[in-house]
Amino acid sequence: MVVTLHRKPRLCWEAKPGVSPSRWKRKTGEPPLINGWIPYLGMALLFRKDAFKFLLDQQKKLGDIFTVHIAGRYITFIMDPFQYVYVIRNSKQLEFHEFADKMASKTFDYPALSKGKFPDLKENLHRIYQYLQGKPLDIISDHMMKNLQDIFEWKCSQATDWETEKMYKFCCSVMFEASFITLYGRVPAADGHKVISEIRDKFIKFDASFPYLAANIPIELLGATKKVRKELIHHFLLQNMTKWLGGSKVVQARQDIFEKYELLGDYDKAAHHFAFLWASVGNTIPATFWAMYYLLRHPKALAAVRDEIDHLLHSTGQKRGPTYNIHLTREQLDNLVYLESALNESLRMCSSSMNIRISQEDFVLKLEGNQEVGLRKGDWIALYPQILHMDPEVYEDPKEYKFDRYIENGKKKTTFYKAGRKLKYFLMPFGSGISMCPGRFLAMNEMKMFIFLLLARFDVELVENKAVRLDNSRMGLGILLPDVDIAFRYKLRSLRKRKALGLEVDIGCSDMPPRFVLPEL
Ligand code: HEM
Repeated sequence: MVVTLHRKPRLCWEAKPGVSPSRWKRKTGEPPLINGWIPYLGMALLFRKDAFKFLLDQQKKLGDIFTVHIAGRYITFIMDPFQYVYVIRNSKQLEFHEFADKMASKTFDYPALSKGKFPDLKENLHRIYQYLQGKPLDIISDHMMKNLQDIFEWKCSQATDWETEKMYKFCCSVMFEASFITLYGRVPAADGHKVISEIRDKFIKFDASFPYLAANIPIELLGATKKVRKELIHHFLLQNMTKWLGGSKVVQARQDIFEKYELLGDYDKAAHHFAFLWASVGNTIPATFWAMYYLLRHPKALAAVRDEIDHLLHSTGQKRGPTYNIHLTREQLDNLVYLESALNESLRMCSSSMNIRISQEDFVLKLEGNQEVGLRKGDWIALYPQILHMDPEVYEDPKEYKFDRYIENGKKKTTFYKAGRKLKYFLMPFGSGISMCPGRFLAMNEMKMFIFLLLARFDVELVENKAVRLDNSRMGLGILLPDVDIAFRYKLRSLRKRKALGLEVDIGCSDMPPRFVLPEL
């Protein structure tokens, strides 16, 4: 069901059951309102408990467009993916940046940019995202590859026999340090690893409070979070950052821009750097975990991806030697179609970001098929792509991990259908339109490189036979975390000489029997 202007308006007190009369008199063309009976909170508790289920339930009752009162905000959800484009391309009447600025400045403790005190700062910062694309992306990806190899080497080179670790902790430790060094530089002190792991531990504490901060809960109510945030921000004061060596162009360019704004204090600049760190690892770490977890849980997927990796190494003459010295060009990374498909599949299953826009004026949003939605100034519009990602009409057996879902005839598959119609948007872990993640290409490269190095160098397997589920407390905020950590073990792949295709190449023991056979989930 879709709301149209042409129908007699449904006033909220004559709405369907569950639709409360208490807030608005609905104007013509406005979607049905689910108000809830708790003052101020509205439907916040139910939404927070399980947003995915809540939205599906409302869609069943009310159709593809409805408004929900959540903690003082009135959010209109557009559930039909064919209508997404009309929201995404309307960046004039549907604004994003002011909303994001308000939320980020509060969460990361810097003065809001949109208050007029910092003319063009937002635009200048956005211009810098060019350093995460094209040629600069190749450079930063090369650095990431080198840093990942150094960290694997430092952390894992002694693993001639099985080493057991917790998987989330492992992904977090490797990805945090590699990302940190790549973006901000190496901490030159003898205890450089220790300094970064201290920052990481504080980051994990802060990140645990992130959903509450995003829900507008005052930081004073969140235990030690305020203190931890302050300590984290202090790490990024200029006097500390200038000591770090070999940081990225993107961070350097941000520093240069901040220096031009006298009204931005030292602490404020540091807070901006901290916010960028959060953006660069907050989603990448759990996404890397899910990529690894699903691969290890699915032996066929693991074998196919490992095969692709080995094949690339052999075909480019890069043997796995005692030290890491692997180089991958952009083209080679792009051509890892099985690895990319497996990553996309895990992103499909674990991402839960809500794409929000704010209506700048009272206006009528025109949708496909002459449908229209009346919006008021200040209304929120939201797309919730997790519904699309789990739609059985788009993805057969959506709860199943199928590592090759994004491959067709050996090539990347980019055509997906719903009700026989081709979808423009079918996978949206990185958001959309004006709010699309500027780090998405780097993120994909980083995750590919992590899995590449892990599988090129190690035999890896789970040692616990338990299912890990999504922790829903971050629904709507990005990549969901696992509800528990899980143990896995790794060992350097033993190098056996074998003649393959007439060439003598190093091969690993991927044909080794696993310790136990896990059921496919
Ligand atoms: C799997 C990894 C990642 C995912 C799933 C992800 C997802 C997203 C999403 C959904 C948004 C939009 C948020 C919104 O609509 O409110 C976003 C924004 C952003 N992301 Fe990412 N991201 C990832 C990795 C990265 C990396 C590696 C970087 C940088 C190195 C990065 C930098 C940013 C920044 C700076 C923004 C804010 C953009 C703005 O100013 O509007 N992200 N990300």
